[in-house]
Amino acid sequence: MPAIYAYAPGKVILTGEHAVVYGRPAIAVPVHEVRVRAAIQANPTDSKGTVHILAPDISLDTVLNDMPADHPMSIIFREVQKELGIEHLPALTLTVTSTIPIAAGLGSGAAISVAISRVLSSFLGAPLPEESISRIAFETDHFYHGTPSGIDNTVISYGRMVFFIRGKPIEMLANPLAFTLVIADSGKKSLTGKVVHDLRTRVEIDPARYQAIFDRSEIISRSAREAIEQGDHTRLGTLLSDNHFLLQQLAVSTAHLDLLVKTAMEAGALGAKLSGAGCGGNIIALVD
Ligand code: PMV
Repeated sequence: MPAIYAYAPGKVILTGEHAVVYGRPAIAVPVHEVRVRAAIQANPTDSKGTVHILAPDISLDTVLNDMPADHPMSIIFREVQKELGIEHLPALTLTVTSTIPIAAGLGSGAAISVAISRVLSSFLGAPLPEESISRIAFETDHFYHGTPSGIDNTVISYGRMVFFIRGKPIEMLANPLAFTLVIADSGKKSLTGKVVHDLRTRVEIDPARYQAIFDRSEIISRSAREAIEQGDHTRLGTLLSDNHFLLQQLAVSTAHLDLLVKTAMEAGALGAKLSGAGCGGNIIALVD
């Protein structure tokens, strides 16, 4: 039997990261130039229910039953089976490979969940719709993030630019005039869960100061939406740079990220900012 494949893209956050955790809007775009590939091959000679999991990029070679119940891999299998009402799995091997840098703000965790949910449900004969795939990826994101807003699983499941507000219906954004982003990975890994948690501690100490910053972030995301829909890239660039200034105020930028942003601007970018949790990860620059 030939193997079945599924893919999921990476993502960057254009505007509104962190504020999105506090109910403000954010815009995210899929990055199809990097992706996760998940493949499933049936193993008719193995005993029923034996699920081999191979992830050569992280030297993982294991069996599903040996993984802890709260591991993302266990959650994905459990949730897909629950969704499809399938109690027993046939013997299979799942192989996951990825070109998305890990812990770089590019959504590698959510992309892994999306690609696996997709390939597993297809393999079981009932490909799940985006909505269910996104929900399952959200469940697993708790493992990496603690309190995820849901933006990563949404943009990666739907594979389209989204204007996202926690708990609200998803809005897809059309961009009449394509724009080009340069993504620069700082090379420093950043754990989103820790950055979000540390910021929450600061917010609890001085809520008024931070709510004011989140309010300004909301104005930036709403204005960026308009700029995208009007194809006004000069305005969009300015808004990205304004957003970086807010992220500095949130103390999630670093000297290295600031230097990357400055370098992009000096090279002629229309705007640049850190993207994702910060304290490492990547910056994006809008270029013409
Ligand atoms: O996964 P990252 O590093 O792109 O961060 C996600 C964006 C945050 O707003 C910082 C967290 C969240 O859950 O929305």
